[in-house]
Amino acid sequence: IQTDIPALKDAVPFTMGTASSRAETLGVHGELLVKHFGSLTPGNALKWDATQPSEGVFTFADGDHLVDFAAGHGLAVRGHTLAWHSQTPDWVFAGADKETLLKRLETHVRTLVTRYKGKIAAWDVVNEVVDENQPDGLRRSPWYEIAGLDFIRTAFRVAREADPDAKLFINDYNTEFPRKREALYALVKRLKAEGVPIDGVGHQLHLNIEHPSAAGVEATIERFATLGVDQQVTELDVSVYTDFVSSYDTISPELLLQQGHRYKELFDVFRRQAAHLSSVTVWGASDDVSWLRTWPIPRLNAPLPFDDELQAKPAYWGIVDPS
Ligand code: XIL
Repeated sequence: IQTDIPALKDAVPFTMGTASSRAETLGVHGELLVKHFGSLTPGNALKWDATQPSEGVFTFADGDHLVDFAAGHGLAVRGHTLAWHSQTPDWVFAGADKETLLKRLETHVRTLVTRYKGKIAAWDVVNEVVDENQPDGLRRSPWYEIAGLDFIRTAFRVAREADPDAKLFINDYNTEFPRKREALYALVKRLKAEGVPIDGVGHQLHLNIEHPSAAGVEATIERFATLGVDQQVTELDVSVYTDFVSSYDTISPELLLQQGHRYKELFDVFRRQAAHLSSVTVWGASDDVSWLRTWPIPRLNAPLPFDDELQAKPAYWGIVDPS
């Protein structure tokens, strides 16, 4: 890796994080991680399918490795995620009435949060629960269909009981779009008024090279600041595609430069809003590990600050260079 460039974490006024798998803690990827980042989010290792594949059978090998690696190198950990509709085994919902489902949820949340008590600073307690196209703004997931809003209330309550010092987040994507922003805002406001222990809002920020605007991102941060909650950017990346079907054979230097400007305009917003933003996490450090090489279709993509050889891209310089 390049040793003669500034560390990303030293260039920003908030904690700078990245998603990581076990493999990304090894070799040169591990060196890149330790040099540039102050926080790590296990990208998949703490999801339900990875931690409790069948009922009562918990598997923590990768999660433990990542949490121990972080502790050994002075990195904070974001726990991702306790209740989500995706990457959740079928057994969780199978044959479950509301009481059974909430019991399964309680066991899961208590087991994970207790195991990493004092080691995981922030948890994405629930992920992607908002659907702005529903009249009540709530996603019709199996969680919601079976348990209504109580699955959210239970997840936060149990997480708080298990580790009172962990910061508890509600995390979602597209929060930079006005309708989604308002649906999430209404939900957080309602739950906080009830006393549900929500400490913060996580904005995934899976963006592309053109959309949505940095102004929309800033409006979202300002909006949630009025609720007095902490905020974190949890999964930032900037796809070079503006749709779900295009595919390039190579990605031009011009496009990578445009992406660098895009990173810069976003980090200008993050710096301006640093009073409301405690961390910004990119969803992977280098392009070779990005999930956007397989989602939504297999294609060449380059959404992250470092390239396949772990060299700094214009995107990296966009983060480092303040206006
Ligand atoms: C992605 C992972 O990066 C992939 O490896 C996995 O195959 C699918 O999930 N929103 C989230 C993350 O909250 O958990 C997702 O992570 C990306 C979208």
